[in-house]
Amino acid sequence: MNEGLHPGPEQKFNLTEPVNLLEKNGDPRKRAWVLSLALLVREDWHKMTGKRGEGYRPSIFRLMKAEGLFEKKDTGERKHMAPEHMITVATGALALGKLLKEKIGLQDEDIQDLLLGGLIHDVNKDVEFRTVRLTMENESAGFGQAGYDLAGDVSEQKLRFAGVPEDIIKMHKMVGHASCPEIEEILEGKTELSEKEVIKILILHYIDDLVTSPNIIDPAITSDENSNRLNALDRRCIQNENNPAYEKYNLAWQKDSRNKTGETAFRMQRRVGHLVETHLADLLGVEDPLTLPAVIYSQMQKEIQENWARRKDK
Ligand SMILES: [Fe+2]
Repeated sequence: MNEGLHPGPEQKFNLTEPVNLLEKNGDPRKRAWVLSLALLVREDWHKMTGKRGEGYRPSIFRLMKAEGLFEKKDTGERKHMAPEHMITVATGALALGKLLKEKIGLQDEDIQDLLLGGLIHDVNKDVEFRTVRLTMENESAGFGQAGYDLAGDVSEQKLRFAGVPEDIIKMHKMVGHASCPEIEEILEGKTELSEKEVIKILILHYIDDLVTSPNIIDPAITSDENSNRLNALDRRCIQNENNPAYEKYNLAWQKDSRNKTGETAFRMQRRVGHLVETHLADLLGVEDPLTLPAVIYSQMQKEIQENWARRKDK
């Protein structure tokens, strides 16, 4: 075996340089980070669900496996990339939570909640995929909206059975355009939720809005043909708005009973996403809200680097 063809990680990467989170490159710091997330969440989960020595206590990756998220197609490709998406969301939520921790008095438990919320928020993707397919040609089902809603309800029931606390179940449902009417009410102070519950919901909602293919939080600011500045949130919503596969579903949201503005799904998601972004940027003292993805990206790099250093010290 030619060892030169298989350089060790230290040979291939400069492990003192900031980690690259925009491409899949086999950097060992990322693998170490994912393992640490799994351990952190397992501890947290056991604490929550094991009070009486009973209950459902999977590791997060066993739960994802049980939900069919690691299944492969006949071609050998993975059916779902939801685990990668959830790891990105969890990492982004943890990073933003840590940045806000000092400013607004979040506790370690709140950061753990964000981590768990991120790692379960799309655990129903396999069921969702099927329910959406069953309803996507049906106008009265909102061309797939009823499928998303049903999968969300099923997920809620399963997580409740698993002993996940109600505030985290609530958090996991507050992502995507369908949650936008309630997110807007929350921003206007029309809510019974506590201040901490609100901030955790806003963090998870915002981070989920930012993640683009291939499951990255892109820090770049670009501009469109009219020189409007666009960040990851804009690019994601524009891409969805222009995706022919989502056309009917995007328009059907205009007639949904939850929708009070008549916007399409992705226009609403973009507008409300920016409201949340401005709110979070204000709390953080970030002057230009459009740069919030870049601030989060840097903090994600920092968390991963610090985890690597802790691991190397052992
Ligand atoms: Fe998501």
